Amino acid sequence: MKDYIEKNQDRFVTELTDLLKIPSVSTDSKYKEDVLRTAKAIKERLIEAGADNVEVCKTKGFPIVYGEKLVDPSKPTVLVYGHYDVQPADPLALWNSPPFEPVIKDGKIYARGACDDKGQMYMHVKAFETMMNTNSLYCNVKFMIEGEEEIGSEHLQTFVKENKERLKADVILISDTSMIANDTPSVTVGLRGLSYMEVEITGPNRDLHSGLYGGGVANPINILTKMIASLTDENNRITIPGFYDKVVEVSQEERAAMAKAPFVEQNFKTSIGIPASVGEVGYSTTERVTIRPTLDVNGIWGGYTDEGAKTVIPSKANAKISMRLVPHQSSDEITKLFTKHFESIAPEGVTVKVTPHHGGEPVVIPTDSVFYKAASKAYETTFGKEPIPMRAGGSIPIVPMFKKELGLDSIMMGFGIDTDAIHSPNEHFGIFNYMKGIETIPFFYKYLAELS
Ligand code: BES
Ligand code: MN
Ligand code: MN
Repeated sequence: MKDYIEKNQDRFVTELTDLLKIPSVSTDSKYKEDVLRTAKAIKERLIEAGADNVEVCKTKGFPIVYGEKLVDPSKPTVLVYGHYDVQPADPLALWNSPPFEPVIKDGKIYARGACDDKGQMYMHVKAFETMMNTNSLYCNVKFMIEGEEEIGSEHLQTFVKENKERLKADVILISDTSMIANDTPSVTVGLRGLSYMEVEITGPNRDLHSGLYGGGVANPINILTKMIASLTDENNRITIPGFYDKVVEVSQEERAAMAKAPFVEQNFKTSIGIPASVGEVGYSTTERVTIRPTLDVNGIWGGYTDEGAKTVIPSKANAKISMRLVPHQSSDEITKLFTKHFESIAPEGVTVKVTPHHGGEPVVIPTDSVFYKAASKAYETTFGKEPIPMRAGGSIPIVPMFKKELGLDSIMMGFGIDTDAIHSPNEHFGIFNYMKGIETIPFFYKYLAELS
């Protein structure tokens, strides 16, 4: 198997860079044809790799690519999930090479989607090809690759509900998270949830001369910034009443185990160019970005922002605000608490409108299952080290949904690292990581078949 992977490495890389050339940005309708083209390309690649019943399944949004190989009904079935859509590439000016013209530099592939998630998704297609061509596929496998992850997976939810029989499996396998470092493998055993809000403050019915009216009118931007500032206190805790009510405090044992995972505060700071890390009092940086809930403004706009100065009191001010959630917070509940609170703190002289965007629930994955054991043994085989179970700060809302609708846990074997700049300019994925993924995944199947 190792032989096969080494012999085919160059082709594996070229196939991935070909896929990365298609700008499958799901949030921007101008890329619609490209997103559809990506689905077709994945269908072709799955057929070539040896999958049966490969289909581009239509939905009311972007399609889901399905394919399967059922080798033996007495063997476990692995349902592989991944996404072929990517985040927008902007700000373009900050890329060192065009985002959809992949470049290999210092052993890394630079392109939008290189890591999140085309590169990590494609490892599974190539691992599957490897198992097929070396007679070593010991489990049944089903692929379900969607094109709407970055916009909330709305139509995948319907697809899952309507295809429970076809999607029957024992476990879900996903590579869409990261590991601690190239010499420190980890399995992702938790994800944060998400509530995403948009708010609008309206003052006067038109933009006003700030000399004629200034002083006598509530300025929506002044108001909005004050309201936002009041959402966190001096300890960086969120002030929305009831926000922490359902938060489960992680046990001292688990916190102690987390603290053992290698984390260099200085590297964290220098890699993103900050003079100090900042967050909720009483928690370490690792804890703040994984097991604690957050509130962040993602964007804010209003008034005059072009060249020069314009003396104006704007009619409106807007912001997008997201909250990352942890067990057992519920996205719907937090959305309601936020809305109620934000409306209640609006002062006289303005009106406030709160609109929720997509959300998702937090999730924790048990580590005492055969699935986790199979993953752990797989990493041990290829890295020579047991992986560390780690909770991730990001969100994949369909993971808790799979549990709810299909009753299945997800094993999240991420091979990227946090510095791969996913969602940022110059996103990249190490060829080491890509190849290590392709090498490790078949061992998961092997050990799962043996342990089941
Ligand atoms: N793959 C990421 C999530 C991720 C990355 C989790 C690294 C853990 C570690 C996924 O594509 C993503 O970006 N999710 C979004 C949520 C989604 C609803 C847009 C996120 O976390 O912001
Ligand atoms: Mn992703
Ligand atoms: Mn993403």
